[in-house]
Amino acid sequence: MRVLIIGSGGREHALAWKLRQSPRVSEVLIAPGNGGTALEGENVPVDAGDIPALVALARERKVDLVVPGPELPLTLGVVDAMREAGFRCFGPSKWCAQVEGSKAFAKRLMEKAGVPTASCRVFDRQDEAEAWIRQKGAPIVVKADGLAAGKGVIVAKTEGEALEAVADIMGRRAFGEAGAHVVIEDFLEGEEVSLLAFCDGETALPLPSAQDHKAAYDGDTGPNTGGMGAYSPAPVLPDRDLESMTDLVIRPVIREMAREGHPFTGILYAGLMMTKDGPKVLEYNARFGDPECQPLLMRLESDLVDIIEACFDHRLKDTALRISPDSALGVVVAAEGYPGSYPKGMEISGFAEAEANGAKVFQAGTARKDGKIVANGGRVLCVTARGNDLAAAAGNAYAALSHVRMERSRYRSDIGQKGLRRTAGKK
Ligand code: AMP
Ligand code: GLY
Repeated sequence: MRVLIIGSGGREHALAWKLRQSPRVSEVLIAPGNGGTALEGENVPVDAGDIPALVALARERKVDLVVPGPELPLTLGVVDAMREAGFRCFGPSKWCAQVEGSKAFAKRLMEKAGVPTASCRVFDRQDEAEAWIRQKGAPIVVKADGLAAGKGVIVAKTEGEALEAVADIMGRRAFGEAGAHVVIEDFLEGEEVSLLAFCDGETALPLPSAQDHKAAYDGDTGPNTGGMGAYSPAPVLPDRDLESMTDLVIRPVIREMAREGHPFTGILYAGLMMTKDGPKVLEYNARFGDPECQPLLMRLESDLVDIIEACFDHRLKDTALRISPDSALGVVVAAEGYPGSYPKGMEISGFAEAEANGAKVFQAGTARKDGKIVANGGRVLCVTARGNDLAAAAGNAYAALSHVRMERSRYRSDIGQKGLRRTAGKK
């Protein structure tokens, strides 16, 4: 079977690594890929947002399965376009991908499905949004409606900050048309956790929980990033609660989409805040998380092709996931300055030593140049390892990381600490 993976991040390297392990897969193509995916298959220089070119590539290379990684091709309708061209593409249709592409759409769906979330209002006029902020006061959360590369959410501590955010998003269109509407919602407090489930339109089969670390610096300080590290399982959402949490935040939404005539196939990812009043959904993504995908796929023992096919064929209700009882943890190595401006081109070495004890260095913003791997993006690597518990996985990941050499790089030294503190508190 020939597989085409779309994207160029650490998630796509993990997908290529995992899919290549399937005895059913003979060839892996990655469009456009990175320095690491080139080790797992063949990189093809087609942009992840160029749907016609991706369909042409699928035709030319006669692929049997397409797996998009990031949200952009999904929200642009890659699944519909591939399906029309006769290809099986694992992910939601353009309609269903709005659950990630439009926060207002997601809120409406949650309301209809009875899913707990922060109460909110959607505005298409700046003066009305401002009046609402003055009435509600701070802290309050302002979100651009559309996709904004993870930057469209402002958790405002003061009224001034919130007003400034609205002016940025709606007035100055800092995120373009993503700012035609804003969602203003109540501030929630608690620990965040991610729940991802395979979906076949009717049935949802959850993966174990994972926890991302969105803030740039230790102690969850500094600006928001795409994610600086992740681990699974997260003690805040233990395996014994997976089914009930899936019933609360995933299955009602799947049912509602099916009821509206648009069954959701692919991965539905609920970003949750565990508040003192119970779990609340912060957002949905219509895909694997990055970097959550890296530790999750390290724990998944099932053949990913089999699971994906069960989703296409509506057989998830008869399918079980085989998951390693180990914990897995990934630490992102970023270029200095990320998520702001950062340098590129630094040489990276130490891969073999880092991977000597079973860890895997998933590559994200890297490229091959003169036979060497060099930094080519903000998040550069995700060094991921397993261990028989969270502490062991963290120990193994950081031990592996110590072998990686890259100038002008940085990473968080506290990935997994929240989970460890929670586990220690229970002993
Ligand atoms: P989102 O893209 O909606 O997940 O938001 C990005 C980040 O902003 C989340 O991971 C949270 O850390 C934070 N956030 C979003 N909504 C809220 C909220 N209602 N209360 C507090 N923090 C929030
Ligand atoms: N790790 C968060 C995301 O993929 O959206």
